[in-house]
Amino acid sequence: MPAMSFSVRGKAEVMEFEGRITPYVVITCILAASGGLMFGYDIGISGGVTSMDDFLEKFFPVVYLKKKEAHENAYCKYDNENLQLFTSSLYMAGLVATFFASYTTKNYGRRPTMLIAGLFFVGGVVLNTAAVNLLMLILGRILLGCGVGFANQAVPLFLSEIAPTRIRGALNILFQLNTTIGILFANVVNYGTERIRPWGWRLSLGLAGIPALLLTVGSLFIVETPNSLVERGQLEEGKAVLRKIRGTNNVDPEFNELVEASRMAKQVKHPFRNLLKRRNRPQLVITICLQIFQQFTGINAIMFYAPVLFQTLGFKNDASLYSSVITGAVNVIATIISIFSVDKLGRRMLLIEAGIQMFISQVIIGVLLGVGLKQDEELSRGTAIVIVLMVCTFVSAFAWSWGPLGWLIPSETFPLETRSAGQSVTVCVNLVFTFVIAQAFLSMLCRFKYGIFFFFAAWVSVMTIFVLFLLPETKNVPIEEMTERVWKHHWLWKKYVRDVDLTDDEAGDAYPRHANGITDANSC
Ligand code: BGC
Repeated sequence: MPAMSFSVRGKAEVMEFEGRITPYVVITCILAASGGLMFGYDIGISGGVTSMDDFLEKFFPVVYLKKKEAHENAYCKYDNENLQLFTSSLYMAGLVATFFASYTTKNYGRRPTMLIAGLFFVGGVVLNTAAVNLLMLILGRILLGCGVGFANQAVPLFLSEIAPTRIRGALNILFQLNTTIGILFANVVNYGTERIRPWGWRLSLGLAGIPALLLTVGSLFIVETPNSLVERGQLEEGKAVLRKIRGTNNVDPEFNELVEASRMAKQVKHPFRNLLKRRNRPQLVITICLQIFQQFTGINAIMFYAPVLFQTLGFKNDASLYSSVITGAVNVIATIISIFSVDKLGRRMLLIEAGIQMFISQVIIGVLLGVGLKQDEELSRGTAIVIVLMVCTFVSAFAWSWGPLGWLIPSETFPLETRSAGQSVTVCVNLVFTFVIAQAFLSMLCRFKYGIFFFFAAWVSVMTIFVLFLLPETKNVPIEEMTERVWKHHWLWKKYVRDVDLTDDEAGDAYPRHANGITDANSC
């Protein structure tokens, strides 16, 4: 494999291919992105449901009794492994499913993989809605998790491949935006169903059927990506689809690049071994750290458990659910702000500003709780309002920084030889640490009490220092010029990438990419 191929392809990345943003692309992307809605709905729904008395009484009577007891130890009301398992089983299942999803994505295409995801989601929703015992409930969550594993592998890939290059970045954040809309939708549903006694929780779990059906039916109507068709040898169909989605017959340059990318993809022997090479260390370290840090901001303590958390703080059921709606709405709005500011202010600026904002709000919450929530006491109304405000301050900072950037930065910093393998690592590390937080948070709240907020604040300061010294700015740098313009100028990372241009030998082992920036040999 001549090293030349890489530079030729590097130029092609910068070049614009002909093609409009056709209505077909827009509709297709909306349907596919319902995978993000589903992911968000699953994140947001469990907290509200697990705070509902009817649900607790039926499936977690021990927790229900503890909750009803006086304020003996507010922080430990919800400390129950089964309850945490209800939330976390989904992420463990998702992690395992990603391994299978990578196989179907590559060998059968993105569309069937999304269909499988949709079917898992529908199965999970049915089991959850009809649940008469804990087993059905957990099995339902596991099926939903399988759906998340399949959808999160295929949907972002699908969006990236179907999108014209110039709006690929915006579409990347669109997936995150859909996730936040899903979370908000779940919060609103929980607020409404809490009043429907005794089966409101069934409605909460059942309404997940809307995004689930949207994804399932949608995946029957959307096209397969040209990249996937070409990769599986269906060249003519690939070209026809490309014409359709670009709205022009002049697709030869893009098509030729797809064919070339696919040819090179077939020559890659060891994508993951490549990822471990010294020259790829900076991106690998950054990706893993970004995903771990993203979860250790403590965001999912809020997203999963906001209603439970607010009740722990002494809010009534109703107040805790509408407070969650407020935080959910802040999450959506701040994500939209991120879409518009990320290429203007830059990644570092957003992450550092948000780090300071998150640190301050967490410390204030910790102090207010430490002072205000003594045994057998309710929080004063004023303190409660300030706490909700501080939670919103925290969530907004996360949503315009670590939320989208935790996904965007890994997808834009890997060189083409490791881009896809890097993407897989991103998904895996995310699900592992989402699982860890889901499983551990309620126990940590019980042990650390208000100190949990200082714990997360400490992590936030570590990650902000990390950004300050170790994360270079990638704003407005063409993807294929990252190594030359970013890594080779960084005080530390240049030691890893300096003078290690690909030789002919290495190029055969290198990891290629598709025209749209992501290849398909995804595996976890
Ligand atoms: C994170 C999720 C989180 C969500 C909140 C995502 O970027 O990966 O774990 O729940 O943001 O909006």
